[in-house]
Amino acid sequence: MEFRHLGRSGLMVSEISYGNWLTHGSQVEEDAAKQCVQAALDEGITTFDTADVYAGTKAEAVLGRALKGVRRESLEIFTKVYWPTGAGPNDRGLSRKHITESINASLRRLQTDYVDLYQAHRFDVETPLEETLKTFDDLVRQGKVLYVGVSEWTAGQIAEALKIADEMGFDRIVSNQPQYSMLWRVIETEVVPLSEREGVGQIVWSPIAQGVLTGKYLPGRQPPEGSRATDPGGSAMISRYMKDDVLTRVQELKPIAADLGLSMAQLAVAWVLQNPNVSSAIVGATRPEQVRDNVKAAGVKLGAEVLARIDDVLGPIVERDPSKTVSPEARP
Ligand SMILES: NC(=O)c1ccc[n+]([C@@H]2O[C@H](COP(=O)([O-])OP(=O)(O)OC[C@H]3O[C@@H](n4cnc5c(N)ncnc54)[C@H](OP(=O)(O)O)[C@@H]3O)[C@@H](O)[C@H]2O)c1
Repeated sequence: MEFRHLGRSGLMVSEISYGNWLTHGSQVEEDAAKQCVQAALDEGITTFDTADVYAGTKAEAVLGRALKGVRRESLEIFTKVYWPTGAGPNDRGLSRKHITESINASLRRLQTDYVDLYQAHRFDVETPLEETLKTFDDLVRQGKVLYVGVSEWTAGQIAEALKIADEMGFDRIVSNQPQYSMLWRVIETEVVPLSEREGVGQIVWSPIAQGVLTGKYLPGRQPPEGSRATDPGGSAMISRYMKDDVLTRVQELKPIAADLGLSMAQLAVAWVLQNPNVSSAIVGATRPEQVRDNVKAAGVKLGAEVLARIDDVLGPIVERDPSKTVSPEARP
């Protein structure tokens, strides 16, 4: 495994992280979840990403049990707050009340005294930014949270948060967690340049486009049994990519991966890691073999000619529009 700094902070994270959205507490049984976590640890992954909302809070509890007994100092545990965790109006968003209650519940489920990184899962238009940032800063001072970050915030939102933090002496955001893959490059024109200037690292999600970039979904064919595209919880999110023009072009990446001696998943993960502003690529997995496959992307260098071949193959199906980085217009 290779390690990178989380943004400009002193914290080192594994270049490849393991995340448990849609899998733990939902798509896969607890035994399979534990096997994936064990495979991640065996392969040198030290960074684990979850969220209070995943599987209706069950995912954090599964991860807490799977990591039980592992030396805490050898792990970086990340979680998030924003999406609803209950039915009430205060069971969501980034108010002082919800953040304070949510971190305490996350720590209990994760069976730890602190998380290494606490992330605002989206921007909350219904809470003053000062209130959120002051609460995050308080959590850092209380030792419940070591670093703070955000997820899917625009360049403007990140810049505003950094300005307030600098003016008020609050702890600064060190990371952003955006979707980023060969197919989804919307952070490249605004979020990445701002983040490079400000020392914010990207911890990117769905680097394999939820499995699509493995090439296992064939155009005009039913998805393989047991894959995310057949999962009741996961099929809506992946549907964006389940189109023949996308799936056909993804098949054309196979010779590029083969020429490099890489699997398709490894090529996809290696691709996001070529961006120096990326601190870590969070991969998901339903089986330990997938973790063992994906992790071999660590340290792989792709030359300019390979990157150009990939761009030629994917052409117009790559999404680059920065306005696709959005948070809900009202609290969900
Ligand atoms: N901040 C946010 O808003 C946000 C949003 C989404 C995700 N995330 C984070 O990012 C993490 C990763 O997201 P993701 O799960 O969408 O990432 P991903 O790595 O792009 O997709 C993972 C899925 O692809 C399939 N897969 C992975 N490796 C494979 C391989 N080698 N061969 C065949 N299939 C393979 C598996 O699904 P099947 O076996 O079911 O096909 C696996 O669950 C999440 O767990 C979460 O921590 C954050």
